[in-house]
This record gives sequence, structure tokens and C-alpha cells, in this order.
Amino acid sequence: MKITLSVIKADVGSIGGHIKPSAKLKGTVEEFVRERGKKLLIDCYVSSTGDDVALLMSHERGIDDSKVHELAWDAFMAGTQEAKSQGLYGAGQDLLKEAFSGNVRGLGPASCELEFEERPGEPFVFFAADKTDPGAYNLPLYLAFADPMHCAGLLLSPKMAHGFTFTIMDVNHTEGDRVIELNAPEELYDIACLLRDNERFVVESIRARATGDVAAVVSTSRLHNIAGTYTGKDDPVALVRTQGNFPATGEVLSPYRLGHYVAGTMRGSHNGPLMPVKLNSTISFFDGPPVVTGAAFCVHEGKFTEPVDVFDHPFWDWVRNNVSQKAAEIRQQGFSGPAMLPYSELEYGGVVEKLGHLEKRFTVRKEDGSGHRHKAA
Ligand code: 13P
Ligand code: 13P
Ligand code: MG
Ligand code: MG
Repeated sequence: MKITLSVIKADVGSIGGHIKPSAKLKGTVEEFVRERGKKLLIDCYVSSTGDDVALLMSHERGIDDSKVHELAWDAFMAGTQEAKSQGLYGAGQDLLKEAFSGNVRGLGPASCELEFEERPGEPFVFFAADKTDPGAYNLPLYLAFADPMHCAGLLLSPKMAHGFTFTIMDVNHTEGDRVIELNAPEELYDIACLLRDNERFVVESIRARATGDVAAVVSTSRLHNIAGTYTGKDDPVALVRTQGNFPATGEVLSPYRLGHYVAGTMRGSHNGPLMPVKLNSTISFFDGPPVVTGAAFCVHEGKFTEPVDVFDHPFWDWVRNNVSQKAAEIRQQGFSGPAMLPYSELEYGGVVEKLGHLEKRFTVRKEDGSGHRHKAA
């Protein structure tokens, strides 16, 4: 059976700052999707990661289906009304346009979708991250799909010996989708060369070269490219099919033990380590650290099993302790150097405006021939 998995997520309001949506907001969104989606969807799972609400939906309508996208948009509109009625912070934050027009892409919510012929056993992991941007998945996906240090299957499984094709998007190009396809392992250095720049080049999808089957998809929207200013961090979602021709679930999870530094955290303007956390976790220290959750499922004829929380295990408590230390380390240096994002990425207008004012006060010294730069008065 050919099915589509669609994840559409948005921040439409949260309690106590950018921490967590209220139970009522989440309930409203879920009820809306379940009620209105009866004819459209086979199954759906509604969850929150930090202040973002994500809808994971299964159906047979293919990717980019306007009815499915509209259902999600309308559900988030209903959630926004609930957020307003409770006085939640940032009600409707990610709904950047007034009205729905065919597809949520470019309207604010993030989405990623997979269409595939179901295998007899169909495991996959749904990842959701908060307080960061889509480039946060670059390194974990590279390591899981192209590096035998994390993916033993590249050596041990003949099915994976052909490697994977990475489709990478230039997210700074706003006039359309600017993408490139590169093959691992032959073009590993080219892939790495692009993926080192998490703010510009983002893994959009990964396919198995042996079969052409799609293995992973990531939401690639950058809100500041849509709104032209800071409205919130992108907080990306991803779907990764596992086992068989794809990496094992444990291989996909392996890179998350690094807690690599990503853009995001406070005011979307800093670097912080990505912490793998339990499902439904909130946000705390310095509006961070950036977090990622993982819910593993199997799907059969479009019906989901219950989710398994992939980061709810004693091993990840140890990782979280280490990542906390990394978060504290980089915070020691406050605004200096790599602790804060570079000018081009500074999402709040403050620094950008300030530099504009200071521009006028800069002077260029005239060469007066004396050779003395600091003359006595
Ligand atoms: P099983 O033999 O338990 O299926 O495990 C195989 C595997 O892929 C472990 O990573
Ligand atoms: P969100 O993008 O998760 O709403 O966070 C915004 C922010 O500014 C946090 O400090
Ligand atoms: Mg928010
Ligand atoms: Mg968020």
C-alpha cells in the first residue's frame, strides 16, 4: 500500500514565554484535526516539542495535498483562537499570512512529507526540534547516512553498500527551490562542504541509491526568509525511515549523543548545543538549550502504533548532563564571538539597528604625514 506521512507544525502560542503550548491549545488542535480530518486522514498523532505543536498525519493523498495542508492550517487557526482566549504568549506566532493558499509552505508552518510503498515492517522516527533551525539536522543526518563511524550498516549491510543521495537546498534563495543532488560516498567532501554551513545549506531529503526509496525528509523553511524579520525560530521537523535498506534506528540516533552546537536558543540569536530530550519536554535555560525529540513508530496500512520515546533511556540522561555542560560553557562568554550568531543571522533588529546608528559615528583618519596616530593635544 502506498501511503503518505505528512508532518506540519507551528507555534501558535505558549505558556510563560516560549516554553510549552497549553493542554487546551493542544487539545483544540487535536480535536479539530481528528474531527475534520475523518475523511481525509487514516491516522494522526499530535505532539508538542517546546512551544511547537506538530501534526503527524497518514493518508493516501500524496505529498503537497492542498486538502491536508488546509486542514493543518485551519487547525492551527483554531489553536490560535484558543491561545488568544487564554492570553497565551505569541498567539498565532508562526501563521505569517492572513489566508491559506494551496500549501503551508511559505505561510509560516514547517512541513516535511514522505510518500512510499509500505514495507511489511515499516519503522520510522519522527523528530521535532525547538529553538533552532533546519540546519540542526545536517550533521546528524550526514553521520547517520554517510559515516561508518556512526552507521555500521554502511559496512555490514550489503543493501546499504551503494550509499545514499543527498538533496540539499540553498535556503537563502527565496525566489524558488534551489537544490543540488550529491551522492555519498563518492561526493562526501562536496556534501560536507555544503553541510558545514547550517544556515544556508540544508538537507531536504535522502534517498537510498540501490532502490531510489526515500529515507529521510526535513522541513526546510526559514521564517526570517519569509517574514523578512525575526518572528520566531524555524524549529524544524524530520521523518526518517529506518532498518532494511536504511540505517538502523540506533544508527540514526547515534549522532545525537554529540550535542553539537546549533543556531538558536535565546531570541534565536545564539549558538547552543542540541539536547536530545524526552517527548513533551519544555524549554528552560536561556530559552534553550535547543532541543530535539524523537518518536519512533511502525505504520501498517497507514495506522500508527503507539510512539516509543527514543530519548527516554538512562543513556540519554548521561548525554543530557554532558550537553548541559556544553550549554553552560558557551554561555560563559555571553555575546562574544561564536556564542552569538554572526550579523547576517541576527534575527532581532536591535543589533542591526544599533550598528546602523553607529555607522554614522565612525570616522576614517586622514593621513597628515606626521606618521603619529596618537598626537598630544
Ligand atoms: P535484530 O537482529 O534484533 O533484528 O537487529 C538487527 C539490527 O539491525 C540491530 O541494529
Ligand atoms: P520560538 O521560535 O520557539 O518561538 O522561540 C523564539 C525565541 O525568541 C526564544 O527566545
Ligand atoms: Mg514561540
Ligand atoms: Mg518554537
